[in-house]
Amino acid sequence: MANLTREEAASKIMVALDKPDAAAALALADQLRGAGCWMKVGMELFYAAGPSVVRELKSRGFRVFLDLKMHDIPNTVRGGARSIARLGVDLFNVHGAGGLAMMAAAAEGVQDVIAAGDTHQAPIIIAVTQLTSTSQAVLNDEIGIAGQVEDAVVRYAKLAREAGLHGVVASPLEVAAIKKACGTGFLTVTPGIRPRGSDTGDQSRITTPRDAVIGGTDYLVIGRPITSANNPAEALDNILKEMTEA
Ligand code: C5P
Repeated sequence: MANLTREEAASKIMVALDKPDAAAALALADQLRGAGCWMKVGMELFYAAGPSVVRELKSRGFRVFLDLKMHDIPNTVRGGARSIARLGVDLFNVHGAGGLAMMAAAAEGVQDVIAAGDTHQAPIIIAVTQLTSTSQAVLNDEIGIAGQVEDAVVRYAKLAREAGLHGVVASPLEVAAIKKACGTGFLTVTPGIRPRGSDTGDQSRITTPRDAVIGGTDYLVIGRPITSANNPAEALDNILKEMTEA
């Protein structure tokens, strides 16, 4: 892949704002303002701070990934997608384990809102394949899915594409297989990014920012290596350097 400029690298980074309240999240976001990265709002922050924190981030100019991994009956997911589309996020996700009809219902929910003229912009919708904390043993012995992690990931990716979604969340290690199965335009959003020397934490299927870029991932989701750093802006800067030198 061609060398990335700093701006291109930053536009591929989604910072996981896993903070307990809006004040902590926005204080962190303000330290990274102007860098050009996305903000990812997940369960911890959204369940505490609600839609207003998304609006705050949007008003600060950030693109926002709402990471709530919806997994419910199709009718409920369609309604959830309608509410998310009205909120004006740039990207959100559902869980691939909900199956084809559930994933298609998310896309239908967005179409409902567009048809009603209630949004200017259709969000990108992606499906979670297998959590990056899920190891081969957990997949086989606990979740009860036989075979290799990569095969399970690719199966959900194909299903997501069939449902009309735009991409998947997976490990950076699975990007090549997903692109081969679903085409290069099918988006890959990859957590499980750990700069050299940083803590693995609870993640299992991981790689470095440099290798993720070389592997062709579209978006790198990075949380603790930035958000738990003494100087988050400097941590982001170091990751951007690693990406532009890849
Ligand atoms: O701190 P860390 O870099 O591990 O954060 C990764 C983020 O990506 C977390 O917010 C986590 O919820 C999210 N995520 C993940 N694996 C997935 C989907 C989302 O780690 N498959």
